[in-house]
Amino acid sequence: MSFKIVKYCMLYVSGLLTLILCVGITWGEMADSQKVLCADCHDKEDAEMAKSVHAAAGIDCRTCHGGEKIYSVERTDLESYRQAASEPENSSSNKIVTSFDHGETFQGKPLRKEIPERCGNCHSDVAKMNPYGLPTDQLAQYRLSGHGQSLFTKNNDRVAVCTDCHDTHAVLESKDPDSSVCPKNIPATCERCHSDPSIMDASNLSIRVVEEYIASVHGQGLLEEGDMGMPTCSTCHGSHSAIPPGYRDVGHVCGRCHQQEEQYFMESPHAKFPLFPRCVGCHTRSVDKRDHLISKVVASPEANKKTYLAVRRTLPDTTIDDSTFQEEFVIRREPPVQHYERYCRHCHDPSKQVGHRTWFAELDEKAMQEGKELYQLVRYAEIGYAAVATRVEEVGRGIILVQDEALMAEDLRTKLVGLGTMQHTLNLENLKKEIDEFVALADQIDQSLDKKLRHLWWRHWALIPIWAFLIIFTIALWIKYKRLKTKWVTPLPE
Ligand code: HEC
Ligand code: HEC
Ligand code: HEC
Ligand code: HEC
Ligand code: HEC
Ligand code: HEC
Ligand code: HEC
Ligand code: HEC
Ligand code: HEC
Repeated sequence: MSFKIVKYCMLYVSGLLTLILCVGITWGEMADSQKVLCADCHDKEDAEMAKSVHAAAGIDCRTCHGGEKIYSVERTDLESYRQAASEPENSSSNKIVTSFDHGETFQGKPLRKEIPERCGNCHSDVAKMNPYGLPTDQLAQYRLSGHGQSLFTKNNDRVAVCTDCHDTHAVLESKDPDSSVCPKNIPATCERCHSDPSIMDASNLSIRVVEEYIASVHGQGLLEEGDMGMPTCSTCHGSHSAIPPGYRDVGHVCGRCHQQEEQYFMESPHAKFPLFPRCVGCHTRSVDKRDHLISKVVASPEANKKTYLAVRRTLPDTTIDDSTFQEEFVIRREPPVQHYERYCRHCHDPSKQVGHRTWFAELDEKAMQEGKELYQLVRYAEIGYAAVATRVEEVGRGIILVQDEALMAEDLRTKLVGLGTMQHTLNLENLKKEIDEFVALADQIDQSLDKKLRHLWWRHWALIPIWAFLIIFTIALWIKYKRLKTKWVTPLPE
């Protein structure tokens, strides 16, 4: 009986001890481990995510990466995990200590090749995008783009995937001024790869496109002056489709904005030749159809007026028909204008008559001659406008009213701007007709001013007899007064 009691007691005590031991061990375990979230180890990604549109829409790490909501980690290991998580690339050497088991449901970091489809899971889904009013064509377009085709058909993962243009975690709304796809930030977004020879050489693409664009009239307008009407990379290339369908060279997209110039260009002899690099042939220094350095040729009529005045100050005795005056004007004009022959010489160089080009000798001569004439006509009109507009202003400063002439000068200005556009036809006959009208209008303004000045002259002379009459009349009056005074006013006796 007592043995039984002792046996039960011992069993009871050992059970109790085991229990205490178990509880103790568990307690100890729990004291050494800690509950953590993704953000506890990946604070950089968490901070980037926090400012994104995705976070605002309730998307979290696990939506894209899977994994557990909460992990339990040894306190002592946490710091090394955190360190490894912040530099995952370098952690391979001490992987055994720092590799973290994210659990069964963890999908890891997607391969670059998988990214477009991962983003497309939501962004191609009309039901998911409708509440936010976002289109769902990005993935479909991306597949057709140079980037997408190279990725999917050639397995080239150096191309841009969604995260290269939109950032991985700090995805912002595209109209946010800090967004990497806001128009003024786009050149920098493309530059990361498109100016890097180590990426571009393999594809044999120019590494100068971004540099050229930034120096171009459009790049300067957008980046320096903040003119949002200027095209940026994605205006011409599309946001998701890297080549505009149907366009094979830069010069084919210009007409979307410069309709009049394109229309006139289509009338020119060059439009017949499919290999002609179109706009780029004259608006860049090279004839390379990939050249993105589109430069400005025209100076504003107002700038021309300033130049005209400056030249007149140095060459006071000259007229606009004077060749010295014209030369000086062209040199000082801003931007300085190249003789059109220089553009034409890119292709029509009579001195380069080698091989088959000998056949073109005559054509080249003709082209150069026409270029020269066109150039002179447009320059003549530029100076002509400046001279007339300046005169209207100067005359208007006196007592003469010049409203009519000012209106006519405004018409002249429109004609001048039209000439710069119209010369794209390379049709000398039409341009000469236009110039004739231009000169006629300029003459009309001049004559009208002359007439008003002559009127003023007559008015000046007409005053002389009036003044003479007034003076004689005053003298006569004075003599009369003197006489009357002596006759009637007798002095008082002393
Ligand atoms: C205890 C710290 C810790 C927590 C919590 C944690 N991670 Fe990690 N994570 C790491 C470490 C360390 C690495 C790098 C080494 C490795 O791959 O194991 C890493 C790597 C990653 C990678 C890159 C994997 C790759 O293939 O390169 C992703 C993605 C990631 N974690 C996402 C998450 C997500 C999502 C969560 C939350 C659901 C999370 N992590 C929670 C420590 C952690
Ligand atoms: C919209 C989907 C999405 C969400 C949400 C997201 N990630 Fe990622 N994450 C990605 C993609 C895609 C990559 C691969 C990027 C790449 O390779 O360019 C990635 C890469 C990573 C990497 C590896 C970074 C590296 O340099 O290799 C870590 C770590 C990571 N994510 C952690 C997180 C954490 C933590 C969160 C939550 C705060 C999170 N991610 C939320 C899509 C997402
Ligand atoms: C789980 C679904 C989901 C996934 C996966 C996802 N997105 Fe989104 N994304 C959204 C939602 C929802 C919005 C709208 C948020 C809002 O407007 O508030 C959004 C908005 C955006 C926007 C802003 C659009 C704008 O201009 O308003 C961009 C850019 C974007 N996502 C890119 C990506 C990229 C890149 C990936 C892949 C790394 C990705 N998304 C993955 C759901 C997702
Ligand atoms: C080569 C750079 C580039 C790549 C790659 C790219 N995008 Fe975009 N994305 C842009 C630009 C630029 C815009 C902003 C202009 C616009 O609204 O069209 C934009 C806009 C968006 C928008 C907002 C659309 C809208 O109309 O408001 C979403 C959503 C988006 N991208 C998702 C994606 C997804 C998903 C992918 C991958 C399949 C992707 N992008 C790949 C450059 C890119
Ligand atoms: C992550 C690097 C990367 C970024 C960022 C990038 N690209 Fe590209 N892009 C490439 C690579 C690589 C190729 C060459 C693909 C090939 O070999 O066919 C390419 C090709 C192109 C092409 C030529 C397509 C063709 O074959 O006709 C155009 C145009 C282009 N990119 C425009 C852009 C624009 C515009 C942007 C910015 C909005 C941009 N890219 C951003 C890597 C990038
Ligand atoms: C005014 C319109 C326009 C603008 C602005 C523009 N491009 Fe282009 N670009 C084109 C056209 C058109 C092509 C010719 C497409 C072809 O031949 O495949 C081209 C060609 C390219 C090519 C292929 C070059 C090669 O070597 O074959 C790349 C890369 C490129 N552009 C990138 C850019 C980038 C990056 C920007 C912004 C910095 C930009 N483009 C701005 C119209 C433009
Ligand atoms: C998205 C519209 C757009 C596209 C596409 C575009 N441009 Fe422009 N361009 C402008 C705007 C806006 C201006 C500045 C306003 C102006 O002077 O007409 C400008 C100015 C110019 C100028 C300077 C004119 C001046 O008076 O200073 C030239 C030259 C020019 N563009 C040529 C081109 C060529 C060549 C192309 C094709 C490669 C092209 N543009 C494509 C919008 C565009
Ligand atoms: C044969 C050479 C040549 C070609 C081809 C050419 N241009 Fe021009 N372009 C010029 C010259 C020269 C001027 C300057 C006229 C002047 O002296 O004022 C000019 C002026 C311009 C201007 C500014 C003047 C204005 O009136 O707005 C724009 C914009 C322009 N061109 C766009 C284009 C576009 C777009 C194309 C293609 C459709 C094109 N050009 C093709 C030679 C050319
Ligand atoms: C990018 C090269 C290039 C530039 C720049 C260029 N041309 Fe041409 N031009 C051609 C080609 C090609 C032809 C067609 C030659 C043929 O008949 O096969 C041509 C033909 C002509 C013709 C003859 C058309 C005919 O059939 O009678 C004239 C005139 C002409 N160009 C004028 C000019 C003028 C003026 C300029 C400068 C403002 C100029 N071109 C600049 C390439 C160019």
